[in-house]
Amino acid sequence: MICLTLSGNTLSSCLDEIRQNREYIDLAELRLDLLEPEEQKKAASFPSMTDVPLILTLRRKEDGGRCELSERDRRQLLLSALDGDFAYVDIEEDVKKNDVEMKAREKGVKIIRSFHDFSGIPDDIYSRIYRLSERGDIAKAAVTPHTIQDLLTLFRISEELKDVEKIIIGMGDWGIPIRILYKKAGSILTFACSGNAVAPGQVSAKDLKLLYRADQVNERTGIYGIIGNPVLHTSSPLIHNIGFHAINYNAIYLPFLVDNVRIFFALAEYLKMRGFSVTIPFKDAVLMYLGNITREVKQIGACNTVVRMPGMWKGMNTDYYGFLQPILKDIDSGRVKSALVIGAGGASQAIVWALRNRGVKVTILNRTIGRAEKLAKINLCEYDTLDNAHKYEGKVDLVVQTTSVGLYPDFDISPVDFSFTGKEIAYDIIYKPKMTKFLKEAEKAGCTLHFGEEMLLEQGKLQFELFTGYHYPKEAVRSL
Ligand code: ATR
Repeated sequence: MICLTLSGNTLSSCLDEIRQNREYIDLAELRLDLLEPEEQKKAASFPSMTDVPLILTLRRKEDGGRCELSERDRRQLLLSALDGDFAYVDIEEDVKKNDVEMKAREKGVKIIRSFHDFSGIPDDIYSRIYRLSERGDIAKAAVTPHTIQDLLTLFRISEELKDVEKIIIGMGDWGIPIRILYKKAGSILTFACSGNAVAPGQVSAKDLKLLYRADQVNERTGIYGIIGNPVLHTSSPLIHNIGFHAINYNAIYLPFLVDNVRIFFALAEYLKMRGFSVTIPFKDAVLMYLGNITREVKQIGACNTVVRMPGMWKGMNTDYYGFLQPILKDIDSGRVKSALVIGAGGASQAIVWALRNRGVKVTILNRTIGRAEKLAKINLCEYDTLDNAHKYEGKVDLVVQTTSVGLYPDFDISPVDFSFTGKEIAYDIIYKPKMTKFLKEAEKAGCTLHFGEEMLLEQGKLQFELFTGYHYPKEAVRSL
């Protein structure tokens, strides 16, 4: 079930939130502590205003809520709200007096027994969840993972406590996979927001329902994802999930923030993942865990696509092809014979190799000359420092920008001082923003432009083929 956490401070704004999200949700949580005091008193009337089953919650400040009432007054407020027909009531683990509990049981309202930890994951999390469930209640643990190991610990709860009715929530960025793959964690529901997250790391109800189809995940769902750090900004979940949907393929693709690649592979095994994309800074780090790599990966020394093979993981590189695809015609027609590549980092490796492999004469320009030299030697090309960029003005057919300079939010800078003549093709691999300062300058001179989003989409389409065995659907491209 997808549960919308209502964030309004009046009952009517909560109703609006339900209306806006109705098609995405199965139930909603009324957070009494977020309501104005006058509205709190009317809460008992709320269930009759909507057809959505409701959870009643009055969250204390120390548990991440806004309620600062005395415990006695808090229980009193809950008791009066329970006059309404709520489906569930949330009662914290340490609440001793059982008047709210008694009233809930009398009325047949299901009890969610919860605890919150905003600093980490308690060592005794398994036994605590078990204890909370002992009286037939739903156990809820909202905890804060800080590492990929923590995330693995949370996913394992489903195996350790198979028969316990529970809700496991990983708060913050590290917990996002467990919010999306809540069914794999054995949770009966996941909490979603309508736009503004009420709790750290919450995903919108619309994305959970339409993009991830989180409530459709079952035993046969193929799990895919992207690992990186940072990773939450990437558009890859959009590309792949929309593609899966368009061909009716039972699979889900989600972002994993990672700090340790070795432990991520353990998580990938645990979740029986079928494949994943790799982004910065792990394109080299994954290599040692792969049983098989393609010729491109060997040459480039970087892998952005990992797929499961019988008994091993195989690494491939689709950045190479993704970069080349938009300019392939120009290379094949002879329009592009020479190129200037700005930058000599990880991204540059695949690009230089791709261009050299197609017979393009390449000069690498980099701030640190040693890195340019090293890359140039491997790929048999020229190199120079960025300061000498002016020497190449009017002499190259293609200029490629491969550094992260100009990336959102620092979009008003370019790594290179270069006067375009207008004859060049300018290509920036940054995709946020689409129009970088580098490209703006090229556009002013009348150059043909290529954008990072073209490369992103092309590498993603090829990756989709490697993941699923199907071509990326044309109709999905249109809805991106
Ligand atoms: P990536 O894997 O994204 O390519 P990287 O390996 O850290 O990341 O490489 C970053 C590239 O951006 C390098 O070419 C780097 O130049 P140095 O080798 O001199 O570090 C370049 N770069 C980063 N910041 C830069 C800046 N402010 N000006 C010019 N080049 C910069």
